[in-house]
Amino acid sequence: MMVGSIVLFGPPGAGKGTQAGRIVDLTGKPQVSTGDMLRSAVKAGSPMGMAAKKFMDAGLLVPDEVIIGLIEERLQEDDADSGVLFDGFPRTIPQAESLERIADVTSVISIEVPDDAIVERIVGRRMDPETGEIYHVTFKPAPTEIESRLIQRPDDNEDTVRARLEAYHTQTAPLADWYAERGLLISIDGNASIEEVGSSVEAAVRTND
Ligand code: AP5
Repeated sequence: MMVGSIVLFGPPGAGKGTQAGRIVDLTGKPQVSTGDMLRSAVKAGSPMGMAAKKFMDAGLLVPDEVIIGLIEERLQEDDADSGVLFDGFPRTIPQAESLERIADVTSVISIEVPDDAIVERIVGRRMDPETGEIYHVTFKPAPTEIESRLIQRPDDNEDTVRARLEAYHTQTAPLADWYAERGLLISIDGNASIEEVGSSVEAAVRTND
């Protein structure tokens, strides 16, 4: 079994992707984002990607067996031997139970943000397809020279965000208690500036060292 993995947990748009780089820099663990893996599969046009796209565009969770298969395959890679940073996984109790069998999770950092703030964050999000950098029209504007190449995710619209939030509250949020019962949950206030949240994330990682 691989050692010491961290889970970055929170609602859609909480800032998991924004903060992941800081944890990667601090720990040297690779970021494993199921959202990014699914978007790559969609871009590649694979049958799995095409099937997943229907769920993603509707703001619904992709079925557990697909996600667990992706994770099992990813953890076979050499860079996962010393643990990874899971971003956006697990999102259901069955996913967490599967993870428990294949990896040792040492902490779950939960970024807490209220629903109203989430909608504003997601609708204003822009991505740089060349670097993967995440921007926001108000909270983290991109440099003017790259503005024209920025894209908006197809699921980043107000209707889909509401569905994603509902999926989060019904299927994913119960995992916070599940991890708290195991003594692994570290909750931080995500309703603050990117820098302030970053400092709290860093403190959470160091506490757990
Ligand atoms: P995924 O890609 O994982 O999306 P998500 O969880 O909805 O998370 P996001 O990427 O939207 O948000 P984030 O927390 O990373 O926020 P970010 O840092 O970008 O999943 C997409 C879909 O794939 C799902 O809907 C589902 O269909 C499927 N899927 C993926 N994993 C799955 C799984 N395990 N099981 C089943 N299905 C799965 O920040 C958001 C914005 O806010 C940015 O613009 C950013 O600049 C800004 N921002 C960040 N922090 C702050 C701050 N502190 N203050 C102000 N603005 C901020």
